Amino acid sequence: MSGTEGTRDGASAPRPLSGHTTLRLGGPATEFVSAEHPDQLAELVRESDATGQRVLVLGGGSNLVVADEGFDGRVVRIATRGRRYDIVDGFVQLTVEAGEDWDVVVADTVHQGLGNLECLSGIPGLTGATPVQNVGAYGVEISEMLVSVDLLDRHSGRIRTVLADDLGLVYRGSVLKHTADAVVLRARYLLRDGGQSAPIRYAELARELGVQPGARVDVAEVREAVLRLRRAKGMVLDPEDHDTWSAGSFFTNPVVDADELPGVLELIAAHAGPDVKVPQYPAAGGRTKLSAAWLIDRAGFGKGHSGPGGRTALSGKHTLALTNRGAASTEDLLALAREVRDGVSSTFGVSLAPEPVLVDCSL
Ligand code: EPU
Repeated sequence: MSGTEGTRDGASAPRPLSGHTTLRLGGPATEFVSAEHPDQLAELVRESDATGQRVLVLGGGSNLVVADEGFDGRVVRIATRGRRYDIVDGFVQLTVEAGEDWDVVVADTVHQGLGNLECLSGIPGLTGATPVQNVGAYGVEISEMLVSVDLLDRHSGRIRTVLADDLGLVYRGSVLKHTADAVVLRARYLLRDGGQSAPIRYAELARELGVQPGARVDVAEVREAVLRLRRAKGMVLDPEDHDTWSAGSFFTNPVVDADELPGVLELIAAHAGPDVKVPQYPAAGGRTKLSAAWLIDRAGFGKGHSGPGGRTALSGKHTLALTNRGAASTEDLLALAREVRDGVSSTFGVSLAPEPVLVDCSL
């Protein structure tokens, strides 16, 4: 089935991976198969591992930058479905197969009046990706309600259940990110009954809801508010709007050590003026998280800034989203990313690291 696309038995013409990424970028794979059942998913990966064939496990393609040359190997697209609510020790536990669309899952929990996922509304991609990079938004991270995952351990070929505590979940990362050692087959989340959200922590969201930080609000109201905020930032997919042809935030927010911070703030003051209010948030280990979007803006790359050739641009709604204006290549996008990364580094001495997974390409 070399160069073909389809489920295992149904071959069809080769297609570029751009049709499977939210950036709409990336060349073809040597082989493309969809796995609709978890056993099939595990078997396809095991089979490739046994023969030494390269494998790319593809979810929603919302956090993926694929080279223009494509992927020399087998792409296994996760298309598994299923979710189940159980009562475990008096709490509601939701089990979801990796291939379920994340926002459909969130919408269903909200519809059932169950809290904990509402702040994670409108995030593109599939459920299996949420533990990998500890998906987070509006003051909430998956680490807070993830119970465990079932994963295929590619070294042993076995399926194991791993508790959330053993996944090394940190800001936008886990032991599963940037390695191909395991494939998430399903994940379990702890939900709260009673129709109320988790306490609202993100100041911007509290303002939008008209409540004080710490308040609990009706879950459906929170979902609507989060969707409004995300839409205004171009962070909800819309095929008509090129500002959403992105991989979400292209860079993680930089976390600087306590001894580095004064130097960075000095450079910012020298550039932006001494009175400027620099967005900064306390991070683990006495470190400080800065805002990549703000630094990019202040380094001279405003909303809508065009990349070399004009085929890419920063989103017109948020400087942290690098977008394809319709006719871009992956190289075009990487050229813009390098321009922004280097500009922020030379202006403020801060290194920005890419957040999406880069497949057979690099910055
Ligand atoms: N800002 C600018 N210019 C802009 C946009 C924002 O200066 O064009 C400033 C804002 O004024 C604000 C700061 O940047 O002070 C932070 O902006 P925002 O609240 O939008 O959050 P963010 O740190 O840029 C993060 C996540 C998003 C998540 C939002 C909301 C990362 C890398 N990104 O963005 O996640 O939706 O918070 O919680 O942590 C993603 O990971 O793909 C993603 C979209």
